[in-house]
Amino acid sequence: MCGIIGYIGQREASSILIGGLKCLEYRGYDSAGMAVFDGQNIQDIKIKGKIFGLAKALEKKNLPGKLGIAHTRWATHGAPSIINAHPHFCCSRHIAIVHNGIIENYANLRKVLIKEGHHFSSETDSEVLAHLIEKYHKHKSLTKAIQLALKQVIGAYALVVISATEPQKMIAIKKSSSLILGLGQKEYLLASDASAIIPHTKKVIYLDDNEMVVLSKNGYRIHNLGNNHLIKKKVETINWNLTQISKDGFKTFMLKEIFEQPESIANAFRGRFIPEKGQIKLGGLETIESKLPHLSRIIIVACGSSWHAGLVGGSLIEELAKIPVKVEYASEFRYRYPVVGPDCLVIAISQSGETADTIAALELAKTKKALTFGICNVVGSSIARLVDAGAYLHAGPEIGVATTKGFTSQLIVLTILAIHFANLKKTINRKNAQKILKELTRLPVLIKKLLDQSGSLAELAQKLKNTHNCLYLGRGYNFPIALEGALKLKEISYIHAEGYPAAEMKHGPIALIDKKMPTIFIATQDKTYKKIISNMLEVKARNGMIIALATVGDKKITSIADKVIYIPRTIDFLMPVLNTIPCQLLAYHIAILKGHDIDKPRNLAKSVTVE
Ligand code: AGP
Ligand code: GLU
Repeated sequence: MCGIIGYIGQREASSILIGGLKCLEYRGYDSAGMAVFDGQNIQDIKIKGKIFGLAKALEKKNLPGKLGIAHTRWATHGAPSIINAHPHFCCSRHIAIVHNGIIENYANLRKVLIKEGHHFSSETDSEVLAHLIEKYHKHKSLTKAIQLALKQVIGAYALVVISATEPQKMIAIKKSSSLILGLGQKEYLLASDASAIIPHTKKVIYLDDNEMVVLSKNGYRIHNLGNNHLIKKKVETINWNLTQISKDGFKTFMLKEIFEQPESIANAFRGRFIPEKGQIKLGGLETIESKLPHLSRIIIVACGSSWHAGLVGGSLIEELAKIPVKVEYASEFRYRYPVVGPDCLVIAISQSGETADTIAALELAKTKKALTFGICNVVGSSIARLVDAGAYLHAGPEIGVATTKGFTSQLIVLTILAIHFANLKKTINRKNAQKILKELTRLPVLIKKLLDQSGSLAELAQKLKNTHNCLYLGRGYNFPIALEGALKLKEISYIHAEGYPAAEMKHGPIALIDKKMPTIFIATQDKTYKKIISNMLEVKARNGMIIALATVGDKKITSIADKVIYIPRTIDFLMPVLNTIPCQLLAYHIAILKGHDIDKPRNLAKSVTVE
């Protein structure tokens, strides 16, 4: 979690750091801080709360200097407070650090350091890093001291260090938490992700685990943390632009991202198939194409919404390509004893590409010699670099903590993948493949129609805003959308919501139904339609309030449901994409009415880089 940024160069660091933190704030936002070397000492400011507060504090206390680090926190150890906010200092305040991740053995290290006379100011795990480095820096260079300190540390870190004793330097190390180096004109930036770097430069280097970068304003050196060998890294160019990381006139990033979906979806399929042949062209698959026929099954690993997308994808692959698929929570998979081996393709789905549990699940799959495939949005992310092959979502940066366009793009890429596997296994004929692909290209227009209903969903939100509980029901391909709808509502409106397969309602949740309990039925017409109508009648018989997502033209449903949201018609495989949109908008409007911070919901963070 959290966002870190460091700057060394010829400009005033503080304004660059605060700008960077604003871009990174979606990653964590319970407290923040900054430390800048003023020519003699390292000065700092810390606040509890969001970056806005830090910017205000900076207006009162200037932090002059051209070398500095900053942090926006998502607490793992110690409450969100000024004392626990980063940067953390050593006893003499010569060394300041910002840290993203968890130091697993911090308690022991802290005990030893206290015995040795160190004074701790915070409850965080991170502070041990500053003191450990201080301990070794007494007799060694800063670089060497960091190396010795990290030898004792177990855990995950993206760590940036500055020291008043070697003020011409900024040093960073990455292990299991993302860190990117931005290369400017006689200036360098380090940041948790590219959004904080692109206002200054598009030239970046993605650091890999156990790499240490030593920066001065005149150059950089990257070497292996363990053996000091210099590493030559590829300089990459980021192809995002600044409008993509601004709200572009929208009230929130989430709303902007919801409205971007006609385009983001088109970007997910554009250039990836030959319509007249019904064939898929996925550049990312080419390297492993020859191995695919030897695979006997697929395991999908993911967390949260990406897991929901995986459930849809798993059903699609089984139905179209007849390959057995298991969809697993990455966090469970990694601690079970899963049967996985060289006959298995493990697909990791992750918008951020940085989710710790998904990374660990992939690593486990790799040790078992499974072939791995990644579906990520963030280019150059850890998962994208870990897998044997992959396909990007091309959804552009997603800043809102609750995923929207990332999720629908995952559904598109999974659909394309399912068709591809089916083509390879010859379980689909050309006509059918062409039909699905043709419908895929209609989705952007259909989504625009759904977005036009935003106003009426805002009216519905008025009726639902005071509810405390909500049930989302769907079947088949739409069951995962019930889960996703419920998750969206929970995440941003803080209303308790559950997603269930509609028929399962009878096995327990029906006990909750009364006139205060709204149930959202995803009841678009597919083979389970009649069954869903029966479930709806069961709710109606118990005075439950019913909101139905129904296929355009379905008049019958109006006599049962209290409110009907009409969804344009497409093939069953693609209905999940369309049904997602009103669920997003409904959650959004309810959260707005409740006055919540939509882009930064309480307790959440965009990249869950801790277990
Ligand atoms: C989505 O709205 C959530 N914030 C969350 O469930 C998310 O999908 C999950 O943390 C996985 O993230 P990833 O796709 O970046 O791996
Ligand atoms: N574990 C550290 C803390 O609680 C860093 C958390 C983060 O990555 O924001 O301060």
